[in-house]
Amino acid sequence: EKHGFPFFMEKEIHEQPASVERAISGRINLDGATGHLGGLNMSARDLLGVDNVGIVAAGTSYYAGMVGAYLLESVARIKSSAELSSEVRYKNPIVTPGSLYFAVSQSGETIDTLYALRELQRKGGKVLGVCNVVGSTIARESDGGVYIHSGPEIAVASTKAFTSQISVFYIFTLLMARMRHMSWEAGIDFAKALKHIPSQIETILGQTEPIRRLAKKYARYQNFLFLGRGINYPVAMEGALKLKEISYIHAEGYSAAEIKHGPIALINEQTPSLFLVSDDSLREKVITSMKEVKARRGRVIAVAVEGDEEVADIADDYLYIPHTEELMYPFLMVVPLQLFAYYCALELGRNVDQPRNLAKSVTVE
Ligand code: F6R
Repeated sequence: EKHGFPFFMEKEIHEQPASVERAISGRINLDGATGHLGGLNMSARDLLGVDNVGIVAAGTSYYAGMVGAYLLESVARIKSSAELSSEVRYKNPIVTPGSLYFAVSQSGETIDTLYALRELQRKGGKVLGVCNVVGSTIARESDGGVYIHSGPEIAVASTKAFTSQISVFYIFTLLMARMRHMSWEAGIDFAKALKHIPSQIETILGQTEPIRRLAKKYARYQNFLFLGRGINYPVAMEGALKLKEISYIHAEGYSAAEIKHGPIALINEQTPSLFLVSDDSLREKVITSMKEVKARRGRVIAVAVEGDEEVADIADDYLYIPHTEELMYPFLMVVPLQLFAYYCALELGRNVDQPRNLAKSVTVE
């Protein structure tokens, strides 16, 4: 059932054009330029009353939640945050009447996330599930929710679940933004950019050879920094997590702006930095950070937008991705990072689908 791929992880990476399509299909209403999510169990009036969104999750699902919180705050203008479920449970969280929570979990069985959900519910919070596994505990105990419809994710390292989880947050953001200030025209642009994502992921998956070559070149380094800003910051964290999990190479994800507050001390010829450079308002600032790394003799790999010659000139190595709307880049940035981690692990002869010490769902605290 690996359809000719040596590992489930590679198969699942390649399923993303279809899995993202499934996550958004039937959920975009082009006439109304808005989103539609059937399982929320909330009226439009209920949704209008939401003034705070809290997202709880672990691991990759947490990084998807960070993307979601960024979107909801910057586009829908609702105060939003993502927190680690393991921490929420013990901090005696404040629940206000206008708060809405999401528990994001591929398996729907992660105990930290389940306990956070229960604690929020005890305090009167409404918690929606964003799960993949139908009928899972979190899906059952939540007050409503959305299935991401990724299909079974077998590899321990999560890939297609991430892009489907963020898909749900893009749809929810569109819905919430259109109920507030977003115009019909802006809604259409957002929806169209989202609908275009599956074919753009397909384009990236059609050109894996440069990523494989990059992995061959870099797999023997022992430390990496993954750096991004804005909505790509959680993607940098996710890229670093993927590399750690399956190749056992140490990697840290950071905001590119933060390196000057400490991590820059790590930079030398032996510690490459992988930068995510989209063509948005933060591009110049990311380029400044790239130059700081270069000035300290650090090697720079860039994932940049097709045609960005300035970045190509500065970086030691670069990969191009297609252009999209400013906030849609997480979809296109994460795919090369998944493949980079995968090819590094292959290069090092790791057991990609079953990395040491890890389980697919973590049902202990
Ligand atoms: C990452 C990974 C883990 C999970 C985390 C949450 O590749 O597999 O970090 O993302 O354990 O799992 P779920 O989403 O099932 O709650």
